Amino acid sequence: MNTHNSEPIIVAFCCHYCAYAAADLAGSGRLQYPPNIRIVRSPCTGRLEINFFMKALEAGADGVLVAGCEEGSCHFKEGNYLAKGRVNTARQLLKEAGLEPERLRMVNVSAAGSQKFAGYVREMVETVRKLGPSPVRTVNEKNAKEERTGAIQ
Ligand code: FES
Repeated sequence: MNTHNSEPIIVAFCCHYCAYAAADLAGSGRLQYPPNIRIVRSPCTGRLEINFFMKALEAGADGVLVAGCEEGSCHFKEGNYLAKGRVNTARQLLKEAGLEPERLRMVNVSAAGSQKFAGYVREMVETVRKLGPSPVRTVNEKNAKEERTGAIQ
C-alpha cells in the first residue's frame, strides 16, 4: 500500500528508433497516460547497462521501464535481446537486495505503437503505485531532510 503522498516516479529508457517514436506519437496524438514517466532516450536498449537501471532507482525512481523495438526488429539486430537479458539479471539482483523485481520491466513496441506504449505506461504506474514508494527513495529523502535540518549527529 502506498502511504507516501507523492506520485510514483518512473524512469523510462526508450530506444530512439521505436519506443521513443511511439512515445512521441502518443504525445502528438494526445493519448492519455499518466505523467509519471521521465523519458530517457537511448540509441538502442542494447546500449543500456545494468547499472543504468540501478542508478535510476538509487537516484529516486520508484520504477524503471525499459522500452525497445519489437523482438526481431532492433535496428542494431540484437540490442533488445541483450537488454532483455540484462533486465532479467537486474531483476534478480533487485530481488536479492530485497526490492521488488516488478519495479523493473522491459517492454517492446513498434514506432507506430503509441497505444501500446501508453498502455504499458499505465500498467507500470499502476504496478508501482501498488508496491508503494521505493525504499531507496524513502531513505534518500529522509537523509536529505536530516541533512537540511542538521538532524544528523
Ligand atoms: Fe530499438 Fe535496438 S534500436 S531496441
